[in-house]
Amino acid sequence: AANAMWGGRFASGPDAIMEEINASIDFDRRLYEEDIAGSKAHAAMLAQQGIITADDAESITAGLEEIRGEIQAGRFNFSREREDIHMNIEARLAELIGPAAGRLHTARSRNDQVALDFRLHVKTAFFSLDRALTGFIEALLAKAEDHADTVMPGFTHLQVAQPVTFGHHCLAYVEMAARDLSRCRDAVNRLDECPLGAAALAGTGFDIDRHMTAKALGFREPTRNSLDSVSDRDFALEFLSVAAICGTHLSRLAEEIVIWSTPQFGFVRLSDAFSTGSSIMPQKKNPDAAELVRAKPGRINGALISLLTVMKGLPLSYSKDMQEDKEQVFDAIDSLALALAAATGMVRDMTIQTEAMRKAAGHGFSTATDLADWLVRELGMPFREAHHVTGRAVALAEARGVGLEELPLDSLRELDARIGEAVFSVLGVDASVNSRTSFGGTAPANVRAQVAYWRERMATD
Ligand code: ARG
Repeated sequence: AANAMWGGRFASGPDAIMEEINASIDFDRRLYEEDIAGSKAHAAMLAQQGIITADDAESITAGLEEIRGEIQAGRFNFSREREDIHMNIEARLAELIGPAAGRLHTARSRNDQVALDFRLHVKTAFFSLDRALTGFIEALLAKAEDHADTVMPGFTHLQVAQPVTFGHHCLAYVEMAARDLSRCRDAVNRLDECPLGAAALAGTGFDIDRHMTAKALGFREPTRNSLDSVSDRDFALEFLSVAAICGTHLSRLAEEIVIWSTPQFGFVRLSDAFSTGSSIMPQKKNPDAAELVRAKPGRINGALISLLTVMKGLPLSYSKDMQEDKEQVFDAIDSLALALAAATGMVRDMTIQTEAMRKAAGHGFSTATDLADWLVRELGMPFREAHHVTGRAVALAEARGVGLEELPLDSLRELDARIGEAVFSVLGVDASVNSRTSFGGTAPANVRAQVAYWRERMATD
């Protein structure tokens, strides 16, 4: 049978394959709330402008409410024949309220309808991401505060570099997450324009009030160009970009947690709640949550590249290619939400093995830079020379199988006769971190100040 929406021009219905490749209802049903909200706002505006009667608007609204109830109760019969969420709802509305349903689509197209629905959905996703990031930052701040004095090895190349505090390490992730948060808010600001009323692509001859619908739907203002309104998906690309960057941050933390929780490192103990056992090896406790947080960004990055690739080279305005925008974005929204929730839970729950961290911090001659700095400060040695002398001290210690602080003073004096007992005061890991008071440095006092800074900023931003 010919299509109920456009059957006038068609003698027969679609091939089964046509229906299958064309239908989006299996995934765009996720937009039903947004679709109903958009239709209600549109109907109210049409009535206010005298384009439809108040009675028709009322029965449309009542019908849409009933449909929402049916969908929520799982009683709605989604049909592939009706292609997408827009036509599924409109067709059901016609069944429920009769001919008045046919007036709803005045001065509107599925092109502006889907642009609206998807924008609303992505906006909501940005708001959820905002809340999730806020919770993640709070969990990191709590750990940073508890561990302002906990000394651990700082790494470069995953080789021990210099001692840092665990609090400082947590705060590094706070900085990343806070930038993710600011990217999120920045993107919402650009997204906050309502495309409804752009109609198919050219606008409409009906006297509609786009400011009214924009306001009713919670947008700052209507979009200013009808072609752009139905063509653009950069709001979704921005979501995916923000998500990909955030996911990248999460995956780095996840990787660190995987490493830290190995018996070889033993820096953290994961809670039972965020680990799994092995079906064969009874002793195992695996960091599966961390591994999945590490992996989820793979899907998000794929979604970003996928949508960029779908959109590139499309002529204005709408092309059906753009129907391929949704599944990937939905998957990215869900993947990131899960990854963030799991990362937050792991950070909150994990036990920090402060003794293991401190011990590891003392290995690998981690205070060699402190020794070189001491030679510069106390003996007036040029840094390059101090670097060389310290390198020789490290070689000596390595040959003896001891730490720098365990070298006898006499051996150090062979390197430079001016070296005195006082040098030992800078060779310990606590002295090292305590000395790092430059702005942004790892000293416990700095960590406390930064925690206070972020608490204040999170409360006011
Ligand atoms: N299901 C479509 C989509 O997701 C809705 C818009 C269809 N518009 C059209 N002219 N075929 O993009």
